[in-house]
Amino acid sequence: MSSSSQSTVSLPPALLEQATLPYRPLGNFAWRFAHGKLGSDPVFAGLLQRGLIPSNAKVLDIGCGQGLLAALLCSLDTSPVARAAWPASWAPAPTGVKMRGIELMPRDVARAQMALWHLGERAEFVQGDMCSADFGHVDVAVILDVLHYVSHDAQDDVLRRVKAALPPGGSLLLRVGDAAAGLPFHLSNWVDAVVTFVRRRRFSSLYCRPLTEWQKILARLGFKVDAIPMHQGTPFANVLLVARLPASATP
Ligand SMILES: C[S@@+](CC[C@H](N)C(=O)[O-])C[C@H]1O[C@@H](n2cnc3c(N)ncnc32)[C@H](O)[C@@H]1O
Repeated sequence: MSSSSQSTVSLPPALLEQATLPYRPLGNFAWRFAHGKLGSDPVFAGLLQRGLIPSNAKVLDIGCGQGLLAALLCSLDTSPVARAAWPASWAPAPTGVKMRGIELMPRDVARAQMALWHLGERAEFVQGDMCSADFGHVDVAVILDVLHYVSHDAQDDVLRRVKAALPPGGSLLLRVGDAAAGLPFHLSNWVDAVVTFVRRRRFSSLYCRPLTEWQKILARLGFKVDAIPMHQGTPFANVLLVARLPASATP
């Protein structure tokens, strides 16, 4: 696992404020949720700091919730304050990114659409199930904490379809829990089960795998994979898999 990148990074306060501003008109819940998640989950700053989303990329966010990643990325185009807050030590800020989000829960889709309507064609959110939705053709696919909601066979199929949606040199940014990580993994699973019960009003099974198995599956599909711990500041066992296809097409 990559160890160079384990120090905690967070979004600069002014960038966080600008990214969450669009949720204010939707009321306290949507804004507080956006602020809490973008402010405390290390994955958002982690993606930006490392330059994992290039400028002008077409990005597919699978299981996008209320569109937080889109709000963050697009604030860099719409807000000079957000741009000015960009840390000099990070990779260059991505601009001109086009976002498409697929989300199962209609309420989340509605929140994303209402908060980010001003982005027009730059950010589209559709209600759909990742097991059947059309992924189109994109440069970067992002799946953060979503795949474990469907069976192992369905996960394999989603990953095959993600690969087909990417060009040579395209990348998949996949965050998963490491089922071999002991107590922190069980804790995150327990929290996940409770949150899912509250959201869906029913218990759902979670389908997890050890990190090594995720790495093998992605390698078998032809991805070159880096694993970066992505749970700093939380008691969980989450890992970001940065999976890249070779720049020239594989047979
Ligand atoms: C833990 S949340 C993560 C949200 C977002 N990726 C983030 O990191 O902020 C998981 C999301 O995946 C969505 N989801 C679960 N199963 C899905 C499916 N089969 N297709 C599309 N979205 C799904 C949930 O409704 C939820 O919004």
